[in-house]
Amino acid sequence: MGTLEKVVIVDFGGQYTQLIARRIRELKVYCEIKPYNVSLEELVEAGPSALIFSGGSASVYDQEAPCCDQGFYRMGIPLLGICYGMQLMAKDLGGEVMRARHQEYGRTFLTSREQSPLLEGLGKRFEAWMSHGDQVMKLPAGFEVIAASENSPISAMADEKRKFFGLQFHPEVVHTPQGQQILSNFLYRVCGFSGDWTMENFIEGSITEIRQKVGEEGKVVCGLSGGIDSSVAAVLVHQAIGSRLICIFVDHGLLRKGEKEQVVKTFREKFQMELIAVEAGSEFLALLQGVIDPEKKRKIIGNHFIRVFEREAEKIGGIEYLVQGTLYPDIIESGTATASVIKSHHNVGGLPDDMKLSLIEPLKYLFKDEVRRVAQELGLPEDIVWRHPFPGPGMAVRILGEVTPEKVEILQEADDIIIEEIKKAGLYRDIWQAFAVLPNILSVGVKGDSRTYAHTVVLRAVTSQDAMTADWYRMPYDVLENISNRLVNEIPQVNRFVYDITTKPPATIEWE
Ligand code: XMP
Repeated sequence: MGTLEKVVIVDFGGQYTQLIARRIRELKVYCEIKPYNVSLEELVEAGPSALIFSGGSASVYDQEAPCCDQGFYRMGIPLLGICYGMQLMAKDLGGEVMRARHQEYGRTFLTSREQSPLLEGLGKRFEAWMSHGDQVMKLPAGFEVIAASENSPISAMADEKRKFFGLQFHPEVVHTPQGQQILSNFLYRVCGFSGDWTMENFIEGSITEIRQKVGEEGKVVCGLSGGIDSSVAAVLVHQAIGSRLICIFVDHGLLRKGEKEQVVKTFREKFQMELIAVEAGSEFLALLQGVIDPEKKRKIIGNHFIRVFEREAEKIGGIEYLVQGTLYPDIIESGTATASVIKSHHNVGGLPDDMKLSLIEPLKYLFKDEVRRVAQELGLPEDIVWRHPFPGPGMAVRILGEVTPEKVEILQEADDIIIEEIKKAGLYRDIWQAFAVLPNILSVGVKGDSRTYAHTVVLRAVTSQDAMTADWYRMPYDVLENISNRLVNEIPQVNRFVYDITTKPPATIEWE
């Protein structure tokens, strides 16, 4: 991806930094986020064609205020400072920033002052979202005011010669209705970009990169789970090096109904990939016998998963690389290299360091929605592209108490019915995650003329952006009714159905 147009967003700790990145990518320009203390050398190495300074919660005159290498201003490339980013730029270039007399939070109306390419097409008066305590009081040399609000006379500033711009407000949030137009103006009118960040370009670029990395001989292994991230990563690597990629799919016996068959069919038949499907259900269930504690279950499954994976990888022999489906948010969330390692290991069930494999992470610069677009471009089936997330330990953390083969089967059936009804109602994509839980509660009921003493099935269905917080999904009554009827009629061991309406927090999405 070396030749792409690229924006680097320098992060000063603003809550919207990731959002800026997403907006820029929506406008078909590639961008990356770097922490404010990135060195000039590293920044130059990244090869940006423009910079954006993000917002941040500090005040530029604070002792500990984040600042950047002054060399950034001498790189000779366009720069857009947003909120704190604007204030820092103003201060660094010789202007003045002060605590605002009227602090502005929320919706504000601005009036544009000068013709500026940044504000083209916005009209004389426009609405914007402000959230600041400080403001620029004196412009640095070479700048002029391009927009003002009632309370902040310098709401936007420009030095068109150097192509430096500052915005006191946030163009990246939806509350600035023409924000995307402003960002687009920056990219296309100021920077003169052509918009070369498309999924086709991404695919082409990563295939070339993977080929270069792996060379003519290298053998690569991938732990395929059937989830979208590992699936897309595997298909990309397969397109780059063909049968030198070997995928290992471990069936721990705790998957959703039909999942294994679907994965095998998709990757072996449709994509003609080398896929080893390991049937390890009985091994895992034996190890889980009598185990009730959720953390113990997770540990047992995680550890054994590694053992099975290693066993299979050793059989292949001569492997040098491991593919992982790490995504960009995993990497930028904490801003450190080590965090990305922890998270990426987690992706394949925690593979140990002593496997001494070099990592291939083709998705490490993508957001989830971009991965979905790549998946569609690569021709992955809809079922995989839109499939709800599924925890590594699978059904084991959805069966409370001891996991037995019978309970797994009940839960798989129940889950299948639930998903089928939700899909039939056309609601599957509105929901972040929907699944059945077996709470291990037996209750009394009556079926026909006989008394029953059978299982309760719980439905958990939530909406969420990132699984950090979640709300329960307002499921229509008729869908609940259909699910309820089918569960108690079609599964003999079930006589009751309940719907979980707890938010996260305080509950988690999974029950264990
Ligand atoms: P919780 O239950 O913590 O789940 O609200 C948040 C999201 O993470 C998924 N999850 C897991 N994913 N291994 C995974 O790969 C796990 O051990 C695991 N536990 C929870 C969960 O399904 C939800 O999407």
